[in-house]
Order: sequence, then C-alpha cells, then structure tokens
Amino acid sequence: MKRIAVIPGDGIGIDVTQEAIKVLEALKSLGNLQIELKVFDWGADRYLRDGVAMPQGGLDMLRNEFSAIFVGALGDPRIPDMRHAADILLGIRFGLDLYANVRPVRLINRKLTPLKDRTEEDVNFVIFRENTEGAYVGIGGNFKKGTLDEVAIQEEIHTRKGVERIIVYAFEYASKNGLKKVCMSDKANVMRYGHDLWQRTFRAVSLRYPGIEASHLYVDALTMQMVKNPGQFEVIVTNNMFGDIVTDLGAALQGGLGLAASANINPEVTSMFEPVHGSAPKYAGKNVANPMGAILTAAMMLEHLGFESEARRIEDAVRIAIDEEVTTQDLNGRHGTREVGDFIASRLSALG
Ligand code: NAD
Ligand code: IPM
Ligand code: MN
Repeated sequence: MKRIAVIPGDGIGIDVTQEAIKVLEALKSLGNLQIELKVFDWGADRYLRDGVAMPQGGLDMLRNEFSAIFVGALGDPRIPDMRHAADILLGIRFGLDLYANVRPVRLINRKLTPLKDRTEEDVNFVIFRENTEGAYVGIGGNFKKGTLDEVAIQEEIHTRKGVERIIVYAFEYASKNGLKKVCMSDKANVMRYGHDLWQRTFRAVSLRYPGIEASHLYVDALTMQMVKNPGQFEVIVTNNMFGDIVTDLGAALQGGLGLAASANINPEVTSMFEPVHGSAPKYAGKNVANPMGAILTAAMMLEHLGFESEARRIEDAVRIAIDEEVTTQDLNGRHGTREVGDFIASRLSALG
C-alpha cells in the first residue's frame, strides 16, 4: 500500500485537488490500485487561524510515513509575504531536497496551442528545473531599509553538486527515454560566476553521454526559440528561477496553466507532485478552474509510484475530455471544474 499525503492548500488548489482525488478514487474503485490518501489542511486559513504553516514534525512525517505528496497550490492575498507558502511549498522542496522539478511541455491536442500551425509533434519536450538552490535560497538582506539610501542584496547560490545532479538527471532522462537532445539554458554571458559553473558542469557531464547532442541557449534566446520553433527541443535543463519562468511559457504553449503538470523529485526520498499553476484567487471556489493540470499531475505521481498503466488511463481520459470538449472556460469550454472531473473519472472504466 502506498500512502499519499494530500495538501490541497489555497484558492483553486482546493478546487482542483478535489477533482484529482475524485479521479484517483475512481481508479481505486475499478481495480487494485493500492494507494491510500490522507488530506492535510495546511494552508492560508489554518495559518491565519493558529499561526501554523507546517506543523512541527511535519516534514519528518512526510518523509517517513508517505510514499508521495500531492499539493494543490499555495498563495493567498491575505498573506502578501507568502510566509506560509514558503514554509510549506518551498519547505517541502528544500527540506526533502527534491532537486529535480520535472515539468513536461506536451501538447495534447493541436487545437489548444496559441502557436499557429503547430502540432503535437512540435510541442513535446520536458523542462528540468533545478529546485533546491539558485535565486531561491533566500540569502540576502537589507541595509537602511525604508530609507532613500536603502540597499537590498539577494544572492544566488550555485554549487557544483547541485548543478551536476540536475544536469545528470536530465541526461539520464533523455538516455532512458531514447531522446537525443539536451539543451542547457543560463545567462553565463552576464552571470560570470554562477552560470559559468553551469557551463563547465554541463560540458563535463555531456562528455559522459556521447550519443546525446548537448546544446546551449542563453535564456533570452531560449524563450524566443520556444515560441518560434519548439519542435527543436527534447529536454531542457536550467536553474531554479529561469525554470520557473520558462515553465509558465511552456504551459502557455500546451494550452495554458490549467493543463500543466509537474513533479518535484529526489529518487532517494518521498517526492512531491503539484500542478504548475498557482492558487488563482479570483477563481477560488467558483467551479471554473481547470482541474486537468492537477489530474495530469496525479498521473505523473502514479507513474512515479510504479502504476504506469493507471497513469496512462488518466492521460487517455483527459485526452477524450479535450477531444469531446468537456472543458472549462480557459479552454473555451462550457463546463465547470467538477463536471470536468466527473467526466474524466467516468471515462476511466472504459479504458485500460
Ligand atoms: P496563477 O497560476 O495562480 O494564476 C495566473 C492566471 O492563470 C490565473 O489568473 C488564471 O487566469 C490562469 N490559471 C491558472 N491556473 C488555472 C486553472 N487551473 N484553470 C484556469 N485558469 C488558470 O498565478 P498568479 O496569479 O501569479 O499567483 C496566484 C498565487 O498563487 C500567488 O500567491 C502565487 O505566489 C501563488 N503560486 C503558487 C504556486 C504553487 O503553489 N505551486 C504556483 C504559482 C503561483
Ligand atoms: C511555481 C511557483 C513557485 C515558484 C512560487 C509559488 C514560490 O511559481 O511552482 O512555479 O516560484 O517556484
Ligand atoms: Mn511558477
């Protein structure tokens, strides 16, 4: 039995997680999917009520008692400094050392992409975002804060170990999946120390994979190429901040944030799964958010846990919903969050 910790979080995170749970429960009722879900109320409401973001011992509990973690989204306008989200979301990523943020950019149906004349073959790659260092380490400070002489320092950290392990992860993924191209993106022309470490590490690692073409693009050029000619990419690997930015662009290429799935992985420990999108507060509780990103994220989680055929079944059911236009308003559909979830759950039985 695999135990899964579910943290719906805030805003539409709660709405879409409900549908992901619905789909997982439907799969369970169809066969022998050996999973058990336990829901945690960690998020803005609890934080505002009793000051607790992640309860004491929470991280150890996740590490020791669960096989995977599913997160909806975190972020609430009542907590502008994101204190609780930093504790929970970044707390899990950093605390469990989940160094590989895997974000596939996969166009399910050509009608969804905003790019003219592009097909499913053109938009089909995976972005590996470094997830434990870079600009996200929170090192810095203020001097003379609030005065006209204020100074703010925000450091980026890049370590040889941290850079190497995500680059190796990207090459290993390419190698295991028969892919032939890995592109690394940085801004080494300006970031002469940190990103130069990426350049040198990338070159060294690429020598171990002679069958894979290793290329490089500065991140400004990468964004342009992702729009102009996405078909050239198979695997992209980049740092934490650039990965955050280019994966929202990647989400747009596949039809929007409502469709984008992601995994936060360290092969040695409990990994975490979350859609790429945030809590979209304006849509919270309104039955309008697209649950497909969360549902496809649940599929990534099942695949990671070894339930490959169940994962394929979910992906097929999502594909059918899109073909039959059982979609939410972001995809120009007429249906609500719950109706899309119901439809996908109901289609599972015919598949597999
Ligand atoms: P967002 O992803 O929440 O929403 C941006 C816009 O994208 C929305 O206004 C909406 O138009 C669209 N969108 C996103 N998800 C959608 C869905 N499932 N269905 C339909 N439309 C969808 O980004 P934001 O507005 O910049 O951030 C809102 C809050 O979420 C902030 O507090 C931010 O920090 C947080 N956030 C959290 C995560 C996370 O928990 N992983 C990720 C991104 C942002
Ligand atoms: C994401 C989000 C997070 C990030 C925020 C909410 C901290 O944008 O998962 O893409 O920047 O990593
Ligand atoms: Mn983001």
